Amino acid sequence: MPRLAGQQSEYLENQLRAFIERRRTNPVMFNVAHVLTPSMLTALAKHFMDLNPKPLGGAPKELVAAGKQIYEEGVPGTDIPACASCHGPEAKGAEAFPRLAGQLHDYMLRKLVSWSKERGQDLANPDTSAIMAPIAHNLTESQIKAVAAYVSYLE
Ligand code: HEC
Repeated sequence: MPRLAGQQSEYLENQLRAFIERRRTNPVMFNVAHVLTPSMLTALAKHFMDLNPKPLGGAPKELVAAGKQIYEEGVPGTDIPACASCHGPEAKGAEAFPRLAGQLHDYMLRKLVSWSKERGQDLANPDTSAIMAPIAHNLTESQIKAVAAYVSYLE
């Protein structure tokens, strides 16, 4: 399960709508999200953004240096751009680009590995998940583990 504290409100609202419209599949979140009114969605999204999360730790520290390099520079010679170019230099995100700082490393691994099975499921109604899809595909599992370890320690 993701940490929501400090998450960008526009991103959170987008995701809640994606669960409701079944563009993002999740066995639990459809049931939760579709009973929320539009003003509740907005209020919840704002609430989480106002929280200031401290990292929980727990990711392998030996991966942090390699992860920092991928985060800041991408992977040279591949189609993997610097994560910082969209998620921001401190991984705090902006608008539709989610915060990654302090995110749980295990959640990030699971989301990136299964990206196209969970997101963008309504082909007639493409959404912001398409921006991230090629990047999620091109990352290897060990690159994901490294970058996930790095951001999990950021405040
Ligand atoms: C071109 C811009 C762009 C770049 C570069 C980028 N991302 Fe993303 N990323 C996005 C967008 C937009 C989303 C939100 C997708 C959505 O709305 O479903 C996202 C979502 C994510 C998520 C899901 C977060 C969550 O809470 O579920 C993860 C994890 C992620 N990106 C990791 C990365 C990593 C790691 C890199 C670098 C290797 C990276 N991103 C590079 C644009 C980008």
